[in-house]
Amino acid sequence: MVDVHDSIASFRSALDDERRRGRTVGFVPTMGYLHDGHASLMSAAAAENDVAVASIFVNPLQFAANEDLSTYPRDLDRDLAICADRGVSHVLNPTVEEMYPGGPVLTTVTVDRITRNFEGASRPEHFAGVATVVTKLFSIVGPGRAYFGEKDFQQLAVVTRLASDLSIPVQVVGCPIVREADGLAMSSRNVYLDEAQRAAAPVLHEALRAAATAATSGAPATDVRQVMIDRVDSEALAELDYAEVVDATTLEPVDDLGPGQRLLIAAHFGRTRLLDNLAVPVRAVDSSADRS
Ligand code: PAF
Repeated sequence: MVDVHDSIASFRSALDDERRRGRTVGFVPTMGYLHDGHASLMSAAAAENDVAVASIFVNPLQFAANEDLSTYPRDLDRDLAICADRGVSHVLNPTVEEMYPGGPVLTTVTVDRITRNFEGASRPEHFAGVATVVTKLFSIVGPGRAYFGEKDFQQLAVVTRLASDLSIPVQVVGCPIVREADGLAMSSRNVYLDEAQRAAAPVLHEALRAAATAATSGAPATDVRQVMIDRVDSEALAELDYAEVVDATTLEPVDDLGPGQRLLIAAHFGRTRLLDNLAVPVRAVDSSADRS
């Protein structure tokens, strides 16, 4: 049974009750239209905390005027069934007016530097919108742990950094990407792909795997990056946005392979932009160390 709250006050008071009983709270923020990736976050929250809670809120602050806010897919009944199935007991599902009474917010949260490149380069206001709503949700929920998918790797880095910079007492937990059988990372936006684009979209994962193989065999970072570019360029329906090897915390591109690095990639398939990423395999670190 899931308790659905459209009011912040009632959600907060339900969680205060749980905490008074000494229960720990794990939180999964979402924009709904849930898939197995979200479900895996909920399972982790339910397994690692006494109470698992979620929010379903399509946050207008993180969409630019030309983006898909009005057409963003929604299916609340299905979402609530998934929440119940994965052990989520309370869901906050507020209206825009409930979250942002009085219209546009005057207080926003911005995270510098790590938001400038990649997603931030093509969506300049996006991360301020994410950082603002996540900070607000942390303040409403007061979770001990909060769960984010590694699929949006830059978002995970941004949220981790904001929680640290603002001393928010939450442990930000990154969870592995959940993929379709052909390797495509699950995303609510995959429904926008037509049949041909859907068939082409696994090229992102293929490019990452090819790059990881190159890294493992000791190729330098520039060659590893080029492997991703060439693989995506070979797919006529994909238009590369970026492909980079970065430090997983600072998101700065690296010259030399080393520990704690990530392969990031994004491409357009028609009007739909998809992203994916993969850890640089640890053996790559050994083989580049061997070469030096
Ligand atoms: O990843 C998402 O679905 C959203 O960016 C989030 C974290 C729920 C904030 O609106």
